This record gives sequence, structure tokens and C-alpha cells, in this order.
Amino acid sequence: MGERPYVLLSCAMSVDGHLDDASPERLLLSNAEDFDRVDAVRAGCDAILVGAGTVRRDDPRLVVRSAERRRERSARGLPPSPAKVTLSVSGNLDPSSRLFAADGTTKIVYVASPAADRLTARLGAACAVVDAGDPPDLGRVLSDLAARGVRRLMVEGGGSIHTQFLQRDLADELHLVVAPFFVGDPAAPRLVRGDGLPQGPRRPMRLVDVRRMGDLVLLRYLMSPSPAGEPSAGEAR
Ligand SMILES: NC(=O)c1ccc[n+]([C@@H]2O[C@H](COP(=O)([O-])OP(=O)(O)OC[C@H]3O[C@@H](n4cnc5c(N)ncnc54)[C@H](OP(=O)(O)O)[C@@H]3O)[C@@H](O)[C@H]2O)c1
Repeated sequence: MGERPYVLLSCAMSVDGHLDDASPERLLLSNAEDFDRVDAVRAGCDAILVGAGTVRRDDPRLVVRSAERRRERSARGLPPSPAKVTLSVSGNLDPSSRLFAADGTTKIVYVASPAADRLTARLGAACAVVDAGDPPDLGRVLSDLAARGVRRLMVEGGGSIHTQFLQRDLADELHLVVAPFFVGDPAAPRLVRGDGLPQGPRRPMRLVDVRRMGDLVLLRYLMSPSPAGEPSAGEAR
């Protein structure tokens, strides 16, 4: 893999690690202060990425909401909102999803080779459809984003996507918000499904910030090892 953007994973979960419940309605895991914080993080990035599962389930707009932040970006010569990026193997994406709305932002879909032509025909001029290989390769996606000028990428889920970035060791930072309740349903989506995560007890992440937002808490972790001489979380116990 060539150059890649700085990758920041962002999500909110219940105390027992669920990103949602299993009901048809979307579970609210954030509050107004956290939505505003996420908006500020979005405004500091060049692109925002979600998986196709999140597009189908949540239909997010993925834009910077604050008019002031949009103005600030424009004043810096940037588009008002970062580029929107999604990943799909099947190509099962609805062109009427809010992510594809004609709002002036750059939109890119990375899709597995077999579905690329069909999806290009379906999404038309709404976005760039990029063949990401078969199977699609996250490293290739990141190299392509870097070539398009994306230096800072925010990944907003869902669980399948976060898991793969962590498993492939392609994340630099994790913003984890914990909501003050349990979901308690094994059928509900989790932050991580599967094993083989390098960020285990032998290579813990570094906690660099904790912020209370009402009954929510934000934990900000860096993946890079502790600077020489500083004890890691594992060693401190
Ligand atoms: N609490 C939070 O912060 C938060 C944030 C985001 C989402 N969520 C929740 O998370 C749930 C969705 O998570 P999820 O795990 O089901 O879906 P997801 O991670 O959003 O997307 C998974 C889909 O992405 C595509 N995909 C996965 N790996 C890929 C790869 N390497 N290359 C190309 N495409 C790839 C596949 O799409 P195809 O099926 O089209 O092939 C796959 O089905 C929803 O309940 C949503 O509400 C919560």
C-alpha cells in the first residue's frame, strides 16, 4: 500500500458494546453536545466514510451541519463539507439515499469489481464509482483516497467497517462515546465482530483524552505505542 490518510474511527456504543439495537428504529446513543462535537470533528476532515450497511439502515446525510463551520471551511478554500465515501461489495445502494443528494459535495463509492459497472450505471453522475478489487481491499481504498487529496479520513461505522480497519491495523485514532445504558441483545450490532485485532492486551491503545458530556463519556485513543519511557496501560496495572 502506498501513502494513506490519517484514519480516525468514530462511534457511540452502549455500555455493553452495541452500536444499535435490533429494532427497526435507530437507537439514539448521542446527545446534542455529542452531535455538535462530531460535527466539529467532521469539519476538520477531508472525507467521511461509512459502510453500505449504515447507508441502508440509517440513511445519513454526512454533512457538516453548523453554518459557521461550513463558512470557516470555505474561507480556507475547502468545500463546505468533506467528501462522502461509502464501501459496498454487493453494490446494493439506493440512488435516492440522502448520502447521494445533490448537495455539492464530492461522493465516492468503492465497490467490488463484479458490481462496479452495474453500480456506475445505477448511480450515474451522482458520484464516482471506483472498482476496489475482488474482494475489495481497504489498503487500495486508502491509497486511492490519498491520491485524491484526502489527508484526514473520519470513519463513522458501522461495526463491520470499524472491525476491518482495526483488524488491518489501518486506524490511527478512535473516538469512542459510551452511552449510559445496556442493550443486552445478542442480535444487536456490535462495535467489533470477529477476532485478530492487533490492539489487544499486549499492544493496548493509548488513552489521550476523556470528556464528560452529561451522562455520556468520550474516550479518545491513539493506536500508536506509548512514547519511549512512558508506561503503557498494560504495564501500569
Ligand atoms: N453508534 C454508532 O456510532 C454507529 C455508527 C454507524 C453505524 N451504526 C450502526 O451500525 C449498524 C450497521 O453496521 P454494519 O456492520 O451492519 O454495516 P456497515 O459496517 O455500515 O457496512 C457493512 C457493509 O459494508 C460493505 N463492506 C464491508 N466491508 C467491505 C469491504 N472491505 N469493501 C467493500 N465493502 C465492504 C458491505 O456492503 P454490501 O452489503 O453492500 O456488500 C457490508 O455489508 C447499523 O445498525 C447502524 O445504525 C452505529
